[in-house]
Amino acid sequence: MSSFQQLFGRAPEGEWAAPGRVNLIGEHTDYNLGFVLPVALPQTVRAQVARREDGLLRLWSAQGGELMVLRVDDLAPGAVPGWAGYPAGVVWALREAGHPVGGADVRLDSDVPSGAGLSSSAALECVVATACNDLYGLGLPAADLAVLAQRAENAFVGVPCGIMDQMASMCCRPGSALFLDTRDLTARQVPVDLAGAGLALLVLDTRVKHDLGDGAYAALRAGCERAAAQLGLPALRSLQPSGLAGALARLPEELRPLVRHVVTENARVEAAVARLDAGDLTALGPVLTAGHASLRDDYRVSCPETDLAVEAALAAGAHGARMTGGGFGGSVIALVDADAAERVAAGATAAFREAGYAEPRTLTAVPAEGARRLR
Ligand code: GLA
Repeated sequence: MSSFQQLFGRAPEGEWAAPGRVNLIGEHTDYNLGFVLPVALPQTVRAQVARREDGLLRLWSAQGGELMVLRVDDLAPGAVPGWAGYPAGVVWALREAGHPVGGADVRLDSDVPSGAGLSSSAALECVVATACNDLYGLGLPAADLAVLAQRAENAFVGVPCGIMDQMASMCCRPGSALFLDTRDLTARQVPVDLAGAGLALLVLDTRVKHDLGDGAYAALRAGCERAAAQLGLPALRSLQPSGLAGALARLPEELRPLVRHVVTENARVEAAVARLDAGDLTALGPVLTAGHASLRDDYRVSCPETDLAVEAALAAGAHGARMTGGGFGGSVIALVDADAAERVAAGATAAFREAGYAEPRTLTAVPAEGARRLR
């Protein structure tokens, strides 16, 4: 393992961390300007960073291997392939927004599983944004850094994601979920005392990522935008449950399930927050499971592996379960009694074995802290 000293011949100026996330509920709502409710994971991307005077950006990742040497002046959308596009994109987005960010030596390390729908790329973006903000004295608030990180992913890497993952990685607090209104980025920390309620949030990483996901995400997003335009709305967020039936009648057949998912999902986020506010954490379970059914049947972003993980978790006694993140593979969350976590994980593992799938990786999501300086 190469230390910062070994890689760059000097000490870093500091070290920062930014977490991955799981979303409790509110899937495919962010680019429709709706509600989301993510929690940060204890797993983080860490960055040791020192500024450079010569405009070079040197990036090394313990997961990526080789050293990438770039010039900040040459950074341009699409020019940096692979993992380095995320940190480089953040430097590009900051500079493009007029912030005085120069070169840097950056050593990255991560324990956020990648390709698991747990936002390892947002964590990578947010840790670099936070480090640049501190080292270059930009004084930008966390939400502004999240927006710049999203811009890096949209415009530099070329992934049309919403704002949820970056806001989660930047703004989550320990012991809370972030109830975020993605229309204006107003947010409230909602306490989620899982341990106090004798509960645990199990994450089952199916370890599959279906290729179809990349193009499908953009197509779904475009479908939602088309539906909003046909309804004369700025975004599907503006459609209330009471107006749903009338709106569906005015839309072509193929857009109806998308709209139904978005409207009912926004309502599920509000229902979930009400249950958390009331301290009734177990009652969250059915809301999660209903969210999965909507993603499976209406939005159609689940897959056999995530469906099986949800079914197996419920059969083993979970209070509720759903896929989390963009879909087409990735992870499932299951709300379980703390003393049943092992049984539920074993149930899912057995079901996967029987179906001939690779064993899911399991972790426990303890709502953790957003991006921060470590030293
Ligand atoms: C991915 C995107 C997010 C969000 C989710 C689905 O994680 O990065 O912006 O759209 O999918 O809820």
